[in-house]
Amino acid sequence: MSAIAITGSGVSVPDFTITNEELCVAFNQYVRLFNEENAAAIEAGDVTELRESTADFIENASGMKQRYVVNKSGIMDPKIMRPVIHQRPNTELCHQAELSVKACEQALAQAGRVGEDVDMVLLATSNMQRAYPAVAMEVQHALGARGFAYDMNVACSSGTFAIQAAADAVRAGSARCAIVVVPEIMSGHLNWRDRDSHFIFGDGCAAFIIERLEESNSENLWEIRGTRALTQYSHNIRNNGSYLGRCEPERRDEADKLFTQQGRKVFKDIVPLAANFIKDHMTSLDLSPETVSRYWLHQANANMNRLIARRVVGRDTTPQEAPTILDRYANTAGAGSMIAFHLHNEDMEKGASGVLCSFGAGYSIGSVILRRV
Ligand code: COA
Repeated sequence: MSAIAITGSGVSVPDFTITNEELCVAFNQYVRLFNEENAAAIEAGDVTELRESTADFIENASGMKQRYVVNKSGIMDPKIMRPVIHQRPNTELCHQAELSVKACEQALAQAGRVGEDVDMVLLATSNMQRAYPAVAMEVQHALGARGFAYDMNVACSSGTFAIQAAADAVRAGSARCAIVVVPEIMSGHLNWRDRDSHFIFGDGCAAFIIERLEESNSENLWEIRGTRALTQYSHNIRNNGSYLGRCEPERRDEADKLFTQQGRKVFKDIVPLAANFIKDHMTSLDLSPETVSRYWLHQANANMNRLIARRVVGRDTTPQEAPTILDRYANTAGAGSMIAFHLHNEDMEKGASGVLCSFGAGYSIGSVILRRV
């Protein structure tokens, strides 16, 4: 059976950043305004008084210090509290395609490829900018790629599930040079008025090129030794936003039409699930913690990642062994573990192995075991 490899990777982010401190200034202005405007109803017990958010809580509870966003001014305005993102004319690249093309161009350059070499574009993301045509097709067109393109969504596991699908397609011969691109504009579906979650997400995009090892043209080769995917239905992370929203306009703006989660429950459920999943996958390939030198974990919570890595390895891991990127990027959903890989692989020796793993809504878990060639 042909060996399949990641032959290039790329990352792009939008222009703006928001630190925890900046975020809390805006959020707390909103809280004070809300409480003032609703003072009588709060006094009467009809409305719950809102509480302020703190930068210390955010950093301690999640490890996040800042996030990239497509638009900052709207999020920072206590009367708006959402990114202001204008729809572009159909003749211009849409926002998701723009982020994608930047990351794909970097990944292609690293792989020693040009757009024309590509015959499959798999765009995987937690939220599609539009219903159709697939944003993947717009990216395919912009890159001058051939073949076929489609969109898919497995929330935070979009990236690993797409890597599996692309690797399978290349192995089966239905594609020769595939791009997996994960453009996450998470700021658009985050409830910036919700104290429990307003800090969680950031925007960012990652792209991988996937080819047969023997056909590759790259200096930076990572054999995909195995992929695994698992889903287990749960309501604990959910977004009921839908094209059917217009059919019930009176409920269209309810909070459940944006990201909602039971953060504590998710934390408790995912830690053992992800740790066992990674261990089983490693064992199936005769790998032990002694023979795996890197864990590019999903970037949702630094404390969660510390616990998962400890359960897998049997001791605390170093920042080099399980790198954190969420301090700078926050949770970029499906792109997170791919960004961690892109930024933290160059120091690894030929023959070294690593595990790229994502987990999130669904629940969904995906892992990809890589070896530097
Ligand atoms: N500022 C200050 N205090 C806050 C706060 C904020 N923004 N948000 C919550 N708190 C308070 C709560 O009110 C609570 O105080 P109380 O006990 O006095 O009521 C306390 O902090 C703890 O709240 P809790 O919600 O239990 O925090 P947590 O430690 O579970 O951290 C998350 C919250 C979301 C960071 C954490 O649960 C998490 O990351 N879970 C995993 C989520 C995940 O992986 N999701 C996948 C998404 S793709």
